[in-house]
Amino acid sequence: MRQDHLITATQLSRADIEAVLDRAAEIDADPGAVADRYREAVLALCFFEPSTRTKMSFETAIKRLGGATTDMGTVESSSVKKGESLADTVRVVEGYADALVLRHPSEGAAKMAAEFVDVPVINAGDGAGQHPSQTLLDLYTIRENVGLDDLSIGIMGDLKYGRTVHSLAEALTNFDVRQHFISPESLKLPRSVRFDLHNSGAQLREHTDLEEVLPELDVLYVTRIQRERFPDETEYEQIAGEYQIDDDTLELADDDLAVMHPLPRVDEIDPAVDALSQATYFEQAHNGVPVRMALLDFLLSEGEL
Ligand code: NCD
Repeated sequence: MRQDHLITATQLSRADIEAVLDRAAEIDADPGAVADRYREAVLALCFFEPSTRTKMSFETAIKRLGGATTDMGTVESSSVKKGESLADTVRVVEGYADALVLRHPSEGAAKMAAEFVDVPVINAGDGAGQHPSQTLLDLYTIRENVGLDDLSIGIMGDLKYGRTVHSLAEALTNFDVRQHFISPESLKLPRSVRFDLHNSGAQLREHTDLEEVLPELDVLYVTRIQRERFPDETEYEQIAGEYQIDDDTLELADDDLAVMHPLPRVDEIDPAVDALSQATYFEQAHNGVPVRMALLDFLLSEGEL
């Protein structure tokens, strides 16, 4: 199916995912082969929320393909501050660029923006909704380290507001994966996400204790408690600090466990874990470049994924 935009992980079939991951592996092995491929291309970066990895890796990706970026800058320094609507902003920006990367605090923002423009829109995070390009680099990292079939993954932390979780869980239903969701009661998966996962045939179980599942995991995907999405700060204070891992926690884990995190971490993973062979999160962040190069290659070449 032709898809001009990347808005949610639900639109990705197993074949789509494998095509992007295979292309990313080719690019990773020989980045010089594509260094001039998109010399005329401009990628627009519209980030209405803070970002380090997503924005910089998209920027690096288009530059390594020979292209350039045009950047809206911060909300504070843009016309959004004057009251411009998202629809108007993206209609203007599409005239400057060949594709548009959008991060926005409102769920559904990328889907809405895609209705107004003809260039490909990549959802780089819409509130507590989705973050599908993160999912592609997560899947790439899992495939490189432990493989994507016959996999047991634990996804831990803020499952309610964590958009990386919502996208990853949905994409994993394309593979033979047992998904264990570990969180406090108040941060469990939203009912709508659980419903969609069941519909997609997910093999899922929910837990409040990591210990009961840790020994059987191949991947432990840790997430940050999304402070900025809590309606009530005192609720955040009560939960922050739970579900941290350190080297003692990992004594129960398999030596080949891959500990992942989309980053930024606050205090969910003790820095002592960084020195362990299981720590995979910096490699995961670096994989953002070849994976986003591959994604841009698909979207810019034919507008198709
Ligand atoms: C994540 C995000 O923005 O959703 N960061 C990222 O893109 N790597 C995770 C987070 O902010 O906790």
